[in-house]
Amino acid sequence: MNRSKTLRVALVVAALAMATGLPVLAQDNALPPFPKELLDQPEQVTLGVDVFQRTCKFCHGKTAYPGKAPSLKPSRYQPEFVYDRVTNGFRGMPPLKDMLSEKERQAVTVYIMSKDFSN
Ligand code: HEC
Repeated sequence: MNRSKTLRVALVVAALAMATGLPVLAQDNALPPFPKELLDQPEQVTLGVDVFQRTCKFCHGKTAYPGKAPSLKPSRYQPEFVYDRVTNGFRGMPPLKDMLSEKERQAVTVYIMSKDFSN
């Protein structure tokens, strides 16, 4: 594709994005969806347990130093909220996007939202 064609395609994409209000090109920081099929996958839970033990337990586990972090209450959360906190952090919660892959962040979210979760 030559340069002016590339430019025209980019302009059409940008115009479409503005017209529809939808992000036509996937953004790096866009949240992945959490469909039921993903939330039901046992291998997600298995990886999620591992991530939780390695990364979250130190602050969120029941043996953590009291007051270090709130105990997690999944019944009050949507998976997107958990994923966002893990990815971007919030106040005392560190952002973990550089430490955990998207897959690991997704899996730990699935685990927290699952019936197997306990902290
Ligand atoms: C260094 C300590 C630390 C680590 C490690 C940590 N967290 Fe947190 N987390 C916090 C603190 C502190 C808060 C409370 C932030 C606030 O609301 O002020 C928090 C808040 C949260 C919340 C929101 C809780 C709520 O009810 O509002 C979620 C969800 C969460 N953490 C998940 C995780 C997961 C999953 C991991 C591991 C991948 C993790 N955290 C690792 C300290 C930590």
